[in-house]
Amino acid sequence: MNVDPFRAKKGLEGVIFDETAISEVIPERQTLLYRGYPVAALAEHCRFEEVAYLLLHGELPDQTNLKVFTDFERQNRAIDDGTLAVLQAAPVGHHPMDSLRTAVSFLSMSDPFSGPEDHAGLLRKSNLFVAKLPTIVATDYRIRQGKTPIPPHPELPAAENFFWMCFEQVPSADLVKAFDASLTLYAEHGFNASTFTARVVASSLSDLGSAITAAIGSLKGPLHGGANEAVMEMLTEIETPDRARDWVLKALADRRKIMGFGHRVYRLGDSRVPTMKTYRDRVAQATGDSRWIAISEIVEQTVRDQKGIPANLDFPAGPTYALLGFDIPMFTPIFAMARVTGWCAHVMEQLPGNRIVRPLSVYVGPQERPVVSLDDRSA
Ligand code: COA
Repeated sequence: MNVDPFRAKKGLEGVIFDETAISEVIPERQTLLYRGYPVAALAEHCRFEEVAYLLLHGELPDQTNLKVFTDFERQNRAIDDGTLAVLQAAPVGHHPMDSLRTAVSFLSMSDPFSGPEDHAGLLRKSNLFVAKLPTIVATDYRIRQGKTPIPPHPELPAAENFFWMCFEQVPSADLVKAFDASLTLYAEHGFNASTFTARVVASSLSDLGSAITAAIGSLKGPLHGGANEAVMEMLTEIETPDRARDWVLKALADRRKIMGFGHRVYRLGDSRVPTMKTYRDRVAQATGDSRWIAISEIVEQTVRDQKGIPANLDFPAGPTYALLGFDIPMFTPIFAMARVTGWCAHVMEQLPGNRIVRPLSVYVGPQERPVVSLDDRSA
């Protein structure tokens, strides 16, 4: 096929792949809407469970719908023995995104995930993923720490239950709120790489488990979800505020990317950053630990002065999770716990009116040539 090479869109930049009614990114106003609602307002006024319901069902729940949703979520948090065994068999030193990806793939073969994938079936399986991913992440954390896994608490809301499964205690309401708000901010964001991955898998009429497994693999990369871990590794390496400016200048001189900065869609600034910073600062105040903020502010100022590139959500989210007591390799799995709501909503949206995703490429390899026999090639 004769295709103009200059029409190849590296990274699909500027390509409109499909329509969506799930979220709207408005870069010029630095705004993100979930089904029409500003994400900052959702983070402030709603629990993550309400936002998950909104993404999956299209509307915010009333009391009755929310109770049905949260009852199901609480009753289905436990993971089966097979999935637990998969986590226990993970090699020492594994990355939790690898164990999450493997456990989700395994889990999706289990009985509760069988059955048709019509809209009702997809919704039920989506709710199961929302309920079980935090248990996988917390269980894997306990195993990595050499500790006994803590079963889900049947009476606690999702955020509190996650702290419970990790630490056997629940922090103050302020800290829980910061975590819960971060889940809302991470839940959905248009056709980002992992969501696009989920939609591509779904477009071949594969199953939801395959789409979510693939999406987790995509999220892991440091240019996408892995950036929240990379941010914290950077802040840890910088160590003290007085080293921050020189560290950034050297990294930029070495043409290294500064993690937690830049975005394909937002060039003016990431709509989610002001909200996440507010919660990060509250957590720092509540814990009496302002070191990461002091370093962050200098890093941010230096990147802005030198490159004019604004921070993205991962920049304030990383230190928030550290201050909440999570270890760095858990940050991207936490992102996945939230984003699974968006992934599932997108798979459900992709299927009606589906067309298999099949882009073109510009061939730049050798011209057509004859095959020479092995003997002649060896002569
Ligand atoms: N640090 C330093 N320079 C950066 C940068 C960063 N974090 N992000 C972008 N740039 C620079 C690039 O080097 C490039 O400069 P050049 O034109 O002189 O080569 C320019 O800005 C455009 O960047 P590019 O990588 O082409 O943008 P993109 O749209 O393809 O990529 C990201 C977007 C998010 C992948 C990119 O900004 C990035 O790698 N950021 C760091 C990782 C991160 O935080 N990811 C989470 C995203 S929410």
